[in-house]
Amino acid sequence: MIRRIAVSVFISIFCCGQLFAQAETVTGVQEYRDLLADGNPAELWVFSGEEIWFNPAGPKLVTLEACDLGKGPGVTRGAYVELPRYFSDVKKVMDLEQRLIHCRTVIQGFSRVDATAYPFTQRGQETSEVEMLVAFIASKSKGMRMNIPLKHAAEKKMFDLGEQLFYFRAGSHDFGCITCHGGEDRRIRLQELPNFRNQDQARKTYGSWPAYRVSAGEVRTMQHRLYDCFRQQRFPEAIYGSDLITALIMFLAKSADGGVSNAPAMKR
Ligand code: HEC
Repeated sequence: MIRRIAVSVFISIFCCGQLFAQAETVTGVQEYRDLLADGNPAELWVFSGEEIWFNPAGPKLVTLEACDLGKGPGVTRGAYVELPRYFSDVKKVMDLEQRLIHCRTVIQGFSRVDATAYPFTQRGQETSEVEMLVAFIASKSKGMRMNIPLKHAAEKKMFDLGEQLFYFRAGSHDFGCITCHGGEDRRIRLQELPNFRNQDQARKTYGSWPAYRVSAGEVRTMQHRLYDCFRQQRFPEAIYGSDLITALIMFLAKSADGGVSNAPAMKR
């Protein structure tokens, strides 16, 4: 409740951003972004995520402190910039959200159905715990550089699959990620479409996710971003936490390797 009020205060302070958004120049949009960057409501998700991490929950009533995000049980600092990565306990590559599903099932005793039931907040409904946890974990890598060495063969394979998917065109419009994100200066109305084949743009873009979306009034995760782009390219709905999405995230993360993570950032 307090968070909701705080968010609406944030939004009303930045109401005038809406006006800038209507401006037809890129400068206008940039000014709008600069304004927004001053106060990011994502902080509120970070606080809630931290609470969820340290609160006993699930049938086993334990905290997530035993969760190993790749740097040892309970280590959150610097974990996000090294994900996705190979986990030897499950013998597979996982992104942050897959790993959280794993920890919530294995450590806290949730069923997979429960752990994946509500990943994205629906309008007017309670905030998804996943979005809060992801904001918290990402915040623990703020300012650090993406470090995706692809040392393990399984990581390399996941990257290759993600790369293939990026170029794969299909569906009613013969779209692929490449259609919208493979060239310079592409845009849909006012929205610039980042070119992931350009390292600077890949770094800047990936380094801003998860992000507080002003348009949604929510923090959105990378899984949600790709879920929405599957819709944009008229593909069947992406299954939450599937390996296919992790492969794409691996491709994007590697494309952004060496870039600074600024997440959770703030977006239109
Ligand atoms: C039909 C065009 C289209 C296709 C195809 C498409 N996207 Fe997007 N993508 C968009 C638009 C439009 C946005 C910006 C949305 C917004 O600002 O609300 C976007 C945003 C993104 C972002 C965040 C960009 C940012 O500035 O933060 C990522 C990451 C992304 N897309 C990845 C992908 C991937 C991976 C695929 C392939 C699975 C894909 N997209 C396919 C249109 C597309």
